[in-house]
Parts: sequence; structure tokens; C-alpha cells
Amino acid sequence: MNLLQRVWRSSLGKKYVMALTGAALFLFVVGHMVGNLQVFLGPEAINRYGHFLKTTPEILWPARIGLLTCVGLHIVAAIALVGQNRAARPVAYAKLGAQGATAASRTMIWSGLIILTFVIYHLLHYTLTLASVNGYGLDFSTLRDAEGRHDIFAMIVMGFQKWPVSVFYLIAVSLLCTHLGHGVGSMFQSLGLKNHVWGPRIGGFARAASVILFLGYASIPIAVLSGFGGGHLAEMRTRAPQRASENPAVPARIELSHGTNAAGKGK
Ligand code: HEM
Repeated sequence: MNLLQRVWRSSLGKKYVMALTGAALFLFVVGHMVGNLQVFLGPEAINRYGHFLKTTPEILWPARIGLLTCVGLHIVAAIALVGQNRAARPVAYAKLGAQGATAASRTMIWSGLIILTFVIYHLLHYTLTLASVNGYGLDFSTLRDAEGRHDIFAMIVMGFQKWPVSVFYLIAVSLLCTHLGHGVGSMFQSLGLKNHVWGPRIGGFARAASVILFLGYASIPIAVLSGFGGGHLAEMRTRAPQRASENPAVPARIELSHGTNAAGKGK
């Protein structure tokens, strides 16, 4: 048996795999939030950023492959650890709650699986831009800005103007932050970096990070539902007739928030 197989077979090895892949996913979640918050700088900033990523395959593809590998290993190790723990302790403790385990720690596997479902929806929604999942019947990748780039700003605004979509994002992000609040602490513990001095500091860092991530991610759907970005859609609508051949996907009637359509008339 080679070293990798031995590491994988041991439960400590699987905990290491979870900790290292979890750390990489945590960094992605932080970076993705910072990238997304550029939406508040306006269409130019976020469309330029998205265009840069899409036209730089030497960054995009290694990042995607690394991300997919981490997600796969993290899930497989989590499921294997749960199986191993059940096999070692076939009779569940009668009073698990009384043993000091928090609700977040007891539900890690479930919050993780719900986050996975969200990520699959999110990829269909904003990366694969399937017309059947966004509520408009429109392929979001055909939205173009005045420079001819993918109009990510418009895509985000249109996506979150559908309130059930925004509510789903808010639920998923709150679960993600609960998951991370516990996961970041476990990660340091698995790597043997948690002791009585660092333990409370790591706990504080994990709680602060999860609150900041929640506020950062939640601010976008909440802002859109409050009217943010409606002006850009109205501007697109006035541009659409002249550029119809370049931008055939701009719908004749883009919904603006507060019940008006792009022509400024109530629904
Ligand atoms: C307000 C919340 C969010 C917004 C506005 C947002 C926005 C986006 C956008 C616009 C893309 C597509 C980029 C493109 O292909 O042009 C994307 C991709 C992605 N997002 Fe998010 N996202 C949010 C939350 C999340 C969360 C919470 C996660 C993780 C749990 C996540 C994980 C991903 C992944 C894995 C991709 C695929 C990256 C790739 O194309 O390689 N997103 N997101």
C-alpha cells in the first residue's frame, strides 16, 4: 500500500484531506465575495473583471480544475468519515446535544449537501446560464454591454430581481456561513494548530469571518431587491433597438424592480 492510500485509509488522513481542501474552498469563497462586491462599483468594473477571467484561460482553467478537485475530495472524505464513525459507534449516543456538540457541528454533513445543491443551481444559473433556470427563459450569456462583453452586471441584477431566487441564495449563504463558522475551527483542530491559547482566537476568527461573508454575499440580492441596478437595465433597454442585431437577447420587456417594466410602465 503506498503512502497516499495509507493516509486516505486512516481517519486522521481523511481529516487532513478535509482540512486542506476546506481551507482552499474557504479562500475561494473569500475571493469570490470580493470579486462579486465589485458589482457595487458599477457595470464597468464587474464586466471588465469577468471579461478578464474569461479571456485568461491560464488562470480560469487551473482554478476551475483545482476547485472541482477540492469539492470532490472534501465531499468524499466527509461521507467516508461519517460512515467510519457510524461503523465504530453503531448505537447513537442517547443525548448527543448534551455532549457539547453545537447544532452547526451536528449538521455539517447536511448543510454541506444543501450547499452542494445550491452550487449546482448556481452553476446552471450564472456559469452555464441555462435559460430554463432563471425565470426569464433567456440565456444570460447573450446579454452584452456597450463594449460587447458579457454583461455580468445585468445578469446579476436580472437574476436577483426574481425574489424566490434571491431568497434561495440568502438561505444557501446563511447555511454556508454556519458551515464555515464551524468548519474553520475544525480545520485548525485537524491540522493540530488549536490549543488553549489559540483555540479562542481561532473561534473568534471563524465567527467574524462567517458574519463578514454572510453580509458580503447577502448584500447583493438584498440591494437588487431594493432597486439597485434597475437604471442599468433601463439604459440597456434604450440601447437594445439600435443594437438589436448585436444584442438579440435583450428582452423587449426587461422587468425593473418595484413593479415597473423597462418602458417605465406599471405591470
Ligand atoms: C450573492 C452571491 C453570489 C453572486 C452574485 C455570485 C456570482 C457569480 C457569477 C456572476 C458567476 C459566473 C462567473 C462567470 O462565469 O461569468 C459565479 C460563478 C461561481 N460561483 Fe458564485 N456568486 C455568489 C455566491 C456564490 C457562493 C456562496 C458560492 C460557493 C458556495 C459560489 C460559487 C461559485 C462557483 C463555484 C462558480 C463557478 C466559477 C467558474 O466559473 O469557474 N458563488 N458566481
